Amino acid sequence: MGTSSRSPAAPAAPAAAAWRDVCPLAQIPPAGARVVKTARGQLALFRTADDVVYALLDACPHKGGPLSQGIVHGHTVTCPLHGRRIDLATGALEAPDVGCTHRFAVRVEGGRVLLDLR
Ligand code: FES
Repeated sequence: MGTSSRSPAAPAAPAAAAWRDVCPLAQIPPAGARVVKTARGQLALFRTADDVVYALLDACPHKGGPLSQGIVHGHTVTCPLHGRRIDLATGALEAPDVGCTHRFAVRVEGGRVLLDLR
């Protein structure tokens, strides 16, 4: 009598990156932001004074304020509606507030900004 030789199921591979060229870096002002419309919705691109680029859903985790209209300082943005601060690297509200907006991975290559829209 034979035995089964089935191997255990392989773990699911992570989804492949979905990099999209969204704009030139020069279109994001230093210590500022701009909006891009994508298949994932309206996103806010932030460029810090030390030239790091972040991408968040353009909606504050508190009550949906437009983060792209906030003030960028360091690696945080202050929401224009109620003044809560959001960490640009994580999308999370600073304590004691809780909540998080979706963050997208960013690459800058050849002066162009690429987003992973997964
Ligand atoms: S909506 Fe951003 S702080 Fe209230």
